[in-house]
Amino acid sequence: MRGVSKRFGGVVALRGVDVTIERHEKVAILGPSGSGKSTLLQIVAGLLDAEVGSVNVEGALLAKERLGRCAMMPQRDLLLPWRSALDNAAIACENRGMKRSEARARTRPFFERFGLGAFEDVSPAQLSGGMRQRVSFIRTLMADKDVLLLDEPFGALDSITRAQMQEWLLLAMADVPRTVLLVTHDVEEALLLGDAVIVLSSRPGRVVRVLDSRVDSGRSRRETVTSPEFVALKEQALEAIE
Ligand SMILES: Nc1ncnc2c1ncn2[C@@H]1O[C@H](COP(=O)(O)OP(=O)(O)O)[C@@H](O)[C@H]1O
Ligand SMILES: [Mg+2]
Repeated sequence: MRGVSKRFGGVVALRGVDVTIERHEKVAILGPSGSGKSTLLQIVAGLLDAEVGSVNVEGALLAKERLGRCAMMPQRDLLLPWRSALDNAAIACENRGMKRSEARARTRPFFERFGLGAFEDVSPAQLSGGMRQRVSFIRTLMADKDVLLLDEPFGALDSITRAQMQEWLLLAMADVPRTVLLVTHDVEEALLLGDAVIVLSSRPGRVVRVLDSRVDSGRSRRETVTSPEFVALKEQALEAIE
């Protein structure tokens, strides 16, 4: 993104945002509520147009060209109430042209992996908020795009499940070569999951700091978040937001 600004009526959501992400890099965008994080993701995905500035996603410059290059996990899960949990996640495969049976077979192993093994056939209304987010995350993975856009993916989860999901995502991202752009207002989540953290100011969102946040992945989450290096990074991020 080069010099991207976006306004909604009288509200300036983003101002002069420059972001560069290398292929298969995992970057977190950290900013307070209302700093334009969701707007930024929607612009990358091609759902919104930048008002000023340019956006290039692997050579796609126009919003309609960018559509379909990215898989987005929205802030709200948007599961279809008339489909089972499995069929909700499998919809991403069906959109790629697979038959329902093949789509279901491809998707099913991910339910085991996320501890949703017994919940394939229930409707979204019967799932807890955390489980719905996991179904939504599986659906995003099944789209099989090179670029994943995650909008506060674990925001609805309780803190214990959230910590477990962060650990899982860290391992999963190391496994699959994908470009990940994750937005969050959670400092720890941003530093833990991103190789770099781009800090946005409060509205209008501007880039105020870029932190190199690669942390030693050999340690447990607990050891990492309590290490002096991690605490120092946290201080820098909080200072940038202030
Ligand atoms: N479609 C829209 N119409 C009008 N205002 C919007 C729209 N989308 C976002 N905004 C406003 O733009 C600002 C940034 O919103 P958003 O990108 O959702 O922030 P964040 O995701 O960081 O919380 C907010 O003030 C919000 O009210
Ligand atoms: Mg948002």
